[in-house]
Amino acid sequence: MHFQWYPGHMTKARRMMQENIKLIDLVIELVDARVPMSSRNPDIDELGKGKARLILLNKADLAEERMNDEWLAYFKGKGFSAVKVNSKKGGGIKSIQGVIQEACKEKTERDRKRGILNRPVRAMVVGIPNVGKSTFINALAGKACAKTGNKPGVTKGKQWIRLNRSVELLDTPGILWPKFEDQTAGMRLAFIGSIKDEILQTEELAAELMKFMNSAYPGVLEEKYGIPAFEDPYEGLKSIAESRHCLVRGSELDTEKAAAILLDEFRNGKLGRFTLEAPEA
Ligand code: G4P
Repeated sequence: MHFQWYPGHMTKARRMMQENIKLIDLVIELVDARVPMSSRNPDIDELGKGKARLILLNKADLAEERMNDEWLAYFKGKGFSAVKVNSKKGGGIKSIQGVIQEACKEKTERDRKRGILNRPVRAMVVGIPNVGKSTFINALAGKACAKTGNKPGVTKGKQWIRLNRSVELLDTPGILWPKFEDQTAGMRLAFIGSIKDEILQTEELAAELMKFMNSAYPGVLEEKYGIPAFEDPYEGLKSIAESRHCLVRGSELDTEKAAAILLDEFRNGKLGRFTLEAPEA
């Protein structure tokens, strides 16, 4: 299976990021808590050099709690500020403004020494497609957001969302390109649905997921779908088709349908909370 992102997209995303990053003090990087490494693009370290950094483990509700804590410790050990959030339900969002202040402490202190007081911290959200950037911005900005910029008489510029007296957020997130040159990462991103299914073979992908689950979370699929233990992932898919009554022409097992059900239920947490990768030791 091969995963691709068009070079044109990447060039455009990178150019916009380079432009916008000049305007900010803090990079808020969203990663998916189920794949905190595969959903990162290390190029952000170079692009965000000299900026304060905050990593958010988003969709923490879909990942294992114990692993969320391991990943937080990992990122903190690397010198990042890190928090787990559930942007969809608002979990962890309340603490963010305090965390932003904390992450920018050094900069605020530098300003103060130079006699610059009360200059708001400017931040920007970045992450790969589908990681939850818009959901997070909406959750954080809520109703209280007051947009600044684009005032009459002012040249059309960036839109800043004023979160409070001391923090402003760029309203358009920066899009990072997934690292498709790494096929394992590509596969994990496909499992969690961050790559469009149209370009993937549903059955083939589902079979890979069955294999992964069999080794990382043995017994879980058997229990959730009420199916016998399986070695061959395609046999496992057939069992799911049987237990979910996925049939074509009334009698043949529809493994394509079973594959779609499996992927969908895995992605939206119906099968449980799973973390697909552990921090390297
Ligand atoms: P993006 O801007 O980075 O591309 O991502 P976006 O906010 O559009 O979010 C992508 C999907 O992820 C959305 O689901 C969104 O609801 C979901 N999402 C975002 N944050 C969280 C989270 O913390 N937990 C969970 N469980 N889901 C989250 P969707 O399928 O596009 O729509 P819907 O399912 O909300 O209808």
